[in-house]
Amino acid sequence: MTKTTSLDFSDPLIQANPYPHYAQLRQEAPVCWNGRSWLISRYDDIVTLLNDPRMSSARTEQTFAVLPPDVQQELTPLRTILGSRMLLSDPPQHTRLKAIVAKAFTPRMIEGRRARIEQICHGFIDEASDSGTMDVMADVATKLPGWAITDILGVPYEDQPRFTRWARDQVLIYDRAGTTQDRVGVMRQGQKSMLEMKEYLEVIIEQRRHDPQDDLITELVQAEEQGDRLSRDELFGMCVALLVGGNNSTAHLIGNAVLTFARHPDALAQLLAQPELIAPATEEVMRYDSPVQVTSRVVKEDMEFQGETFAAGQGVLVLFGSGNRDEAQFANPTQFDMTRHPNRHLTFAHGPHFCLGVSIARTVSQVGILTLLQRCRNLQLINEQVEWLPGFAFRGPHTLPITFEA
Ligand code: HEM
Repeated sequence: MTKTTSLDFSDPLIQANPYPHYAQLRQEAPVCWNGRSWLISRYDDIVTLLNDPRMSSARTEQTFAVLPPDVQQELTPLRTILGSRMLLSDPPQHTRLKAIVAKAFTPRMIEGRRARIEQICHGFIDEASDSGTMDVMADVATKLPGWAITDILGVPYEDQPRFTRWARDQVLIYDRAGTTQDRVGVMRQGQKSMLEMKEYLEVIIEQRRHDPQDDLITELVQAEEQGDRLSRDELFGMCVALLVGGNNSTAHLIGNAVLTFARHPDALAQLLAQPELIAPATEEVMRYDSPVQVTSRVVKEDMEFQGETFAAGQGVLVLFGSGNRDEAQFANPTQFDMTRHPNRHLTFAHGPHFCLGVSIARTVSQVGILTLLQRCRNLQLINEQVEWLPGFAFRGPHTLPITFEA
């Protein structure tokens, strides 16, 4: 008989600490139906399904299907743009896009900007740190990734705040929490900001075609794989993917890291004594408290999986946050251990859709986390109780007020 669950991961009480609930699912109902989707909570099952060609990422239609028909009609421009995005497409469209775009992501392009990212991070802390208190999220974590990614892309610094707003509106589209009425509002706002962003970026893309610069938009305009290039719409979709994918998850990661170190003073002392540990420490935060808790797929054809029957068209939610704490994969999974090796966490996904921005995410988050911890000596949380972001897909503190010795 099909295993079911009534767990609601958007319930604020569960959201505060979903991990015991995941552990219960892994133990009692590792593949179960929640009335809308299948939930997959074990590490090995997540990896298997993310590599299974019967799982589709073309989930744009599902996102819109819950909306009233007249609203769906009104949102046609948004639907068209989302449908062309790499993250939401399957082979052969996905394979082709990823092959072209991968050409633009050179290590030189990212590493060459590390010093600039450090400099801007110091600038944010300088602005905030006079009083010995700051909100890590508002003052640094939500500013730094957006700044870094727009800079890497080649958007002028003064226009960056608009991208933070646009990116926030786009991210909400993927969080399916809330009533239909809430969803309509979120989707309308999503379309409005998407069209504003399109108008803005098309001007820059056109400029780079005629006047190439040392930036990622130029690399994307020029990127070519066996004579094939991105169309105008694909190029725009790619810029959106980078701005949206890159902005919030990296911000949440920085917030989750500061919170984790504030709660693990021994680990903090060790990191300050051995800053070279920042890379494994950042990976361990990703495993221990992932900024991306879940992603979804749509079943392409009827199939059997772990004794359950998945029907074509049903949704599948793979719980990264649970896989990252699976005792079958990680020894002492509830323990924060920044020397953990190997650490094959799932936070950047697995298989064909593995995060494209992984090098940018790692560089920006390592710089942000280490600079914050080094500058904010004797860091203390002002509120032990954390106010988490609403929704379930993305996990991070809404605000993170701290005191420290500058
Ligand atoms: C800590 C930060 C980040 C995390 C945790 C993260 C996580 C992820 C995950 C889980 C996926 C796969 C989703 C799925 O399969 O449904 C993904 C895909 C993607 N990410 Fe990231 N990401 C981060 C930062 C970034 C950054 C900085 C960028 C770009 C600047 C970026 C760009 C992308 C793109 C373009 C994809 C789509 C790849 C594809 O479909 O093949 N991400 N990311």
